[in-house]
Amino acid sequence: MVLPFEKEYRERYYRLLDEVFDSHFWSDGQMTRRFEEAFEAFTGLPSCAVTSGGAGLLSILEYVDVRGKEVIVPANTFWASAQAAKKAGAKVVYADCNKEDLCMSYEDMVSKVTPDTKAVIVVHIGGHIAFAIDRIARYCEEHNIALIEDCAHAHGAQWNGRAAGSYGLAGSYSFYATKTMPLGEGGMVVSKDRDLIAWMKKFRNYGKEVINGNIVTYPMKEGFNYRISEFTAALGIVQLERMPVILEWKRALAEKYDRIFENTVRFPAGMQSGYYKYIVFDETLREETGKVFNRTDFGNEIEGISLDLPNSYWVAEHHKCAPIYYGWEKAGLSAEEIKAYLLHA
Ligand SMILES: Cc1ncc(COP(=O)(O)O)c(C=O)c1O
Repeated sequence: MVLPFEKEYRERYYRLLDEVFDSHFWSDGQMTRRFEEAFEAFTGLPSCAVTSGGAGLLSILEYVDVRGKEVIVPANTFWASAQAAKKAGAKVVYADCNKEDLCMSYEDMVSKVTPDTKAVIVVHIGGHIAFAIDRIARYCEEHNIALIEDCAHAHGAQWNGRAAGSYGLAGSYSFYATKTMPLGEGGMVVSKDRDLIAWMKKFRNYGKEVINGNIVTYPMKEGFNYRISEFTAALGIVQLERMPVILEWKRALAEKYDRIFENTVRFPAGMQSGYYKYIVFDETLREETGKVFNRTDFGNEIEGISLDLPNSYWVAEHHKCAPIYYGWEKAGLSAEEIKAYLLHA
């Protein structure tokens, strides 16, 4: 995988770094605030920057307080989603996925709810929004269950104009090095609830808050350090400026793939994927990128807990991902040429 960062954006980044040095704030400064504001403009949701997507999930789960309770997590995900719930002291209950969107099945989720269910984590797998999100959100609201959205794959995803993270209580994006918007490391908690975001900004900082350069301390014994540095925030500002270019590039390649592959995820009306991955089923590809979910991880993770997850097993077995990372050198070829390259090994 290549990770391009063009000259014009490097120069923009270096200029922002100068601003950081001149500000004499290497953490807790204006750059973090500006990055959060830019991310709010991108998703339409108030935002709090944190050290990773996993730290964001854990922080939201701490806010909900799931200790000793059950959290429903889809089996078809990277195991960070489940690990966050375990770290927050919950019992993880796995739900199956749909074959159509690879995301959590509404019916299986409902069948796993007990009086101890405190939260549900939906993962917008692959870069689109879970097809059942409206039904899941309604159910959670009616049953007083916190809905948390794992948005690690969902930068740029929209369904009828709504971004990932806008359906539940809060969502967590990841900026890990391979993600659609890479910062090396980092994450962003988003929520339409400004009070939750205000709580999060203290929680990520041991309960401290910096107001006009002065540190104000709050008693918040569960708080910890999930701050990002001002240098990461500066890179975040530049990467957000690049996002339209990256998304357009990915969508143009996806359009070609849509003509090449028959067995892929087909989206409902109004869905716009951010194309973290391009998923195909039962194809022999000459070149592929990592699966959204690996059968081996999956087996290790849930072994002995529940085996009644037929779609998750099927998906793990049958899906592959065609290259769609930004900068893939064959993306400029025609659909015919890409087809000849990828399918005829
Ligand atoms: C679905 C999912 N959730 C959570 C994470 C965790 O993000 P991070 O590595 O930033 O902690 C990842 C990826 O790393 C992921 O793919």
